[in-house]
Amino acid sequence: MPVKTIEWLDGKVRIIDQTQLPTRLVYLDIQDPETMAEAIKSLRIRGAPAIGIAAAFGVVLGAYQFRGSDPTAFRRHVATVIEKLANTRPTAVNLFWALERMRRVLFFHQTEPVEEIRAKLLAEAQKILEEDKDTCRRMGYYGAQLLPDPATVLTHCNAGGLATADFGTALGVIYAAYEQGKRIRVFADETRPLLQGARLTAWELQASGIDVTVICDNMAAFLMQQGKIDCVLVGADRIARNGDVANKIGTYNLAVLAHYHKIPFYVVAPFSSFDLTLATGQQIPIEQRSPEEVTEGFGVRTAPPGVNAYNPAFDLTPHNLVTAIITEKGIIRPPFTKNIARLKNKA
Ligand code: MRU
Repeated sequence: MPVKTIEWLDGKVRIIDQTQLPTRLVYLDIQDPETMAEAIKSLRIRGAPAIGIAAAFGVVLGAYQFRGSDPTAFRRHVATVIEKLANTRPTAVNLFWALERMRRVLFFHQTEPVEEIRAKLLAEAQKILEEDKDTCRRMGYYGAQLLPDPATVLTHCNAGGLATADFGTALGVIYAAYEQGKRIRVFADETRPLLQGARLTAWELQASGIDVTVICDNMAAFLMQQGKIDCVLVGADRIARNGDVANKIGTYNLAVLAHYHKIPFYVVAPFSSFDLTLATGQQIPIEQRSPEEVTEGFGVRTAPPGVNAYNPAFDLTPHNLVTAIITEKGIIRPPFTKNIARLKNKA
């Protein structure tokens, strides 16, 4: 990765403001949980694993914000911060997974002084970040084995370094294959309406020296028809027990197209993106965002004033369209319900 997406710097959290890319590389130093919640909500930091890490550090900022030495008041304050951070984005389960880890630390150490609980919360957030780096590398290692040489890959949204603490999930597979010397070419879906593909995926792949070509979302079918795509690699925001996948809106389109053209469709995601409490993807909450993102994105009006617009941020890809799910513990193939449960318990 050309840059660090998120890091802890002695009392503050430094993130890249992803709303400014690709034209400006701006770092934000966040010092309070309210600013962190706003940063998550407005996609200054985004991508499922990165949201989880950011929220964990948001809890730490809340712990540092507290003045006083009463452990009960401290726990009450930090619990309110956790609640606030949980109310930012509903779909990526990594957010709730990371907050739950922080909540356990908060309530496990009932008798310890505030200073010590605070230190433990910081250690937990740092652990979540470090684990994510290791997880990215492992997914990259497993996934790279699936790519032919040469390979032309189609990806959607941004599931790269900007969405994680290391080199990404779907893009991590590409980086790993590239590091192994495979000749990789990438087509990046622009990803309307917020253009994470054009702005972020193209930016980080280009900066890493990987051959990347941006396409509009509606060009994918034509490329597949021409035999130009060897496989599709995408990330995930939440995966249900049966392997149904919620990911950036437009992912389902690609899955249907890949199925029709007999192209492998791979989902790359850590176990922190699985929600095994949900039997199917139907129960995954889908974030609805402002219609203005569709009608006047980036301040440019592209539809008549007052017209209705619909803006779900994610869609659901049914498990039968997924060729395999690449995780840090290995590659999961159908039948997903059985194989997800089996791999989940692997150390
Ligand atoms: O709305 P975003 O930009 O947070 O959506 C991100 C995605 O959909 C990614 O594909 C997903 O979080 C996986 S990131 C490794």
